[in-house]
Amino acid sequence: MNEKSSDLEKRRARLRRWGTASCPSVVKAPTVIAMVGLPARGKTYISKKLTRYLNWIGIRTKVFNVGDYRRAATDRYKTHDFFRPDNKEAQEIRHKCASMAVDDASKFLLNGGEVAVVDATNTTRERRKLLVTVFTEQHSFKLFFIESICDDPSIIEANILEVKVCSPDYMGVDKNEAMHDFLQRIEHYRRAYESLDIVNEKDMSFIQIFNQGERYLVNKLAGHLQSRVVYYLMNIHVLPRTIYLTRHGESTMNLEGRIGGDSKLSARGDQYAKELAKFVEDEHIENLKVWTSEMNRTIETAKYIDAPKEFWKALNEIDAGICEGMTYEAIQEKYPEEFARRDQDKFHYRYPSGESYQDLVARLEPVILELERQENVMVICHQAVARCLLAYFQDKTSVDLPYLKVPLHTVIKLTPVAYGCRVEFFHLKAEAVNTHREKPKNVDRMRSMDEALETVPNHE
Ligand code: SIN
Repeated sequence: MNEKSSDLEKRRARLRRWGTASCPSVVKAPTVIAMVGLPARGKTYISKKLTRYLNWIGIRTKVFNVGDYRRAATDRYKTHDFFRPDNKEAQEIRHKCASMAVDDASKFLLNGGEVAVVDATNTTRERRKLLVTVFTEQHSFKLFFIESICDDPSIIEANILEVKVCSPDYMGVDKNEAMHDFLQRIEHYRRAYESLDIVNEKDMSFIQIFNQGERYLVNKLAGHLQSRVVYYLMNIHVLPRTIYLTRHGESTMNLEGRIGGDSKLSARGDQYAKELAKFVEDEHIENLKVWTSEMNRTIETAKYIDAPKEFWKALNEIDAGICEGMTYEAIQEKYPEEFARRDQDKFHYRYPSGESYQDLVARLEPVILELERQENVMVICHQAVARCLLAYFQDKTSVDLPYLKVPLHTVIKLTPVAYGCRVEFFHLKAEAVNTHREKPKNVDRMRSMDEALETVPNHE
């Protein structure tokens, strides 16, 4: 046994001690989230969005998409015939790909990952039983199923048009032809489809989502993480909307190069507030709500905008503790060790008597949840806060988050598209100082846990 596999064995033994297969007793046992549902029911959308959220709140999560394994293993997909239940050769390939995804998900969790999302159809009881055997009986992981059930043809058609007809399976294929083929593919699955069953699968933990959130059924939640996942899923929606993110206008303390405080806007900051109101007017945004922090500079920035406003303490700038009101040069001179420590690991560094970026993400979680529930919102906040929010929408790691560029006097327009978010920057007509500090060179050598986990083999 080589060193790596003996390490794996040790970790497996430790996991086995953590609980019995049917009822893992350890609170922090790694979790597998397995999707269930016919094609075009939004499983990949949910998988990716949930993964982005879990990583953002600091839970190491990765998606294992069986369709991607299939595409990497074979270019045999020509038409829906590939998915016919009597196509034995294709079925063998499909089983092999599903097993590879399950193996890689297990390896990921045995190597320090916390949540593996298995994005596959898992439409038969037999297939789900297999997942129970591998994940809970062999490895003592927790297993949670998310089933997306949809019988509204308009939702299904919109989903196929948005993400399926342009999938690599239909490269160069006419849109109508692709749509026709995909509908036939769904029919092959439908013949064998067994929805999660409250009688026969009553011991399993799962949520069923009906018609993209019209109704939910939750069964046997096992622990905090699953509750959090359910809470998140019950808050998100798929209605078209836009989020606008901006920092306050330039403040008098920005002009002096000092951080923190609760200063007023400079003359140029006030100019930005006026430009921002014009921008909002030109965008013709329906039912816009404006959220600011409770600090003078964000409230003043919102003052010319004609829309309902709400003030959130959670949106206040990072608390720089003993460094509040100081310039970076003064901090370096007075607290050289603190200054160097912050550069070494900016995300986790906490200002003495203040906050870290990690603290800020925790503080901002309710804001994100509420943003997910809302439609058009403009958030007027601060540099560190805007970085945290932007990292959520752009799926940035904790290493990159504290260095995201969020210049003053710029509106960031975030529009949900397919599996992600379109990001546009609008620099408005008002000069401002630059408050961005570049990432010091030596930080590049540090690798976060997230990046280390990227090296867990996928399907090669
Ligand atoms: C696919 O190959 O595209 C989907 C595989 C599955 O049924 O999960």
